[in-house]
Amino acid sequence: MPAYAFFNKQFMPLAEAKIGIMTQALHYGTACFEGIRGHWDSEQKRFCLFRLQDHYKRMLEGCRILKIDLPYSVDELCHLTSELLEQSGYRESVYIRPLAYKSSDTLAVRLHDVEDDFLIAVTTFPPYLDVENGVRCCVSSWRRVDDTMVPPRGKICGIYVNSALAKTEAQENGFDEAIVLTQDGHVCEGSAENIFLVLQGKLVTPPSSDNILMGITRDTVIKLAKDELGVDTMERQVDRSELYVAEECFLTGTAANVAPILEIDHRLIGRGEIGKMTAELQKLFAAAMLGRNPKYPDWYYLFCPKAPVQSGHNRIT
Ligand SMILES: Cc1ncc(COP(=O)(O)O)c(C=O)c1O
Repeated sequence: MPAYAFFNKQFMPLAEAKIGIMTQALHYGTACFEGIRGHWDSEQKRFCLFRLQDHYKRMLEGCRILKIDLPYSVDELCHLTSELLEQSGYRESVYIRPLAYKSSDTLAVRLHDVEDDFLIAVTTFPPYLDVENGVRCCVSSWRRVDDTMVPPRGKICGIYVNSALAKTEAQENGFDEAIVLTQDGHVCEGSAENIFLVLQGKLVTPPSSDNILMGITRDTVIKLAKDELGVDTMERQVDRSELYVAEECFLTGTAANVAPILEIDHRLIGRGEIGKMTAELQKLFAAAMLGRNPKYPDWYYLFCPKAPVQSGHNRIT
């Protein structure tokens, strides 16, 4: 099934959705995006889009930061997304990538007096990290951007240069993922994931004031740990050396799901195996993501496609 897009207020195959080479966002990273997973339930013949409203709320916050004036409410964005799925013909689990961007052909480096636009792409995307076998990480030599530089609470495209520098350094040095520290040397997050530690049986994760992205998977794991396992999460500053002495450690993200960390900077975490709490949270998260935890109806945007598979351009009104 070819990837599909909502672009220029039309639904079309992704291959036909093109932007001009002078688009401001392409040059300066003046855009923000989301990554959303939609699970195809072949028995119920419906999609379960995980925390769709929360992803769009976060995107609208990013738009406020970037002065992007989207003409859509959260509900309208959710509706557009289900319409895109309808048009795309997908009947398998999907990854949805909305992008709000500065669309003018201008060389001016600014946020005001520049036109905005919005697109959504839908495609497939396997887990970004090896969730089954765990990952090996290093602490990056790159530091996370600070809120005083580019606000990391938004998924702002330009910030991902920082993530890409860290990821490439890690992989070229033989690791799977980078852990990035804040300017003052506290643990922040992975290149595209939040991080959790298990220390003396307690869950610990860096706070919002340490320049993390406020991850939706992070929030999901905090709630599942509390409600299902009776485990509270401490949101507090984390020292680098706490990574080395943690009993367990894992990364969370829409792309990565819950990915166990087996090793950091050539030191085994615990016994270098997937820890007990990590495994339990992986199981709980997997069930929640598939829409199988009835305690959280607000997490699921359920959508049954009606139309047979079709192709071509379909303008919305
Ligand atoms: C820098 C960064 N941190 C954390 C996350 C995890 O966020 P979420 O769980 O909302 O996908 C992401 C994922 O996009 C990210 O890019």
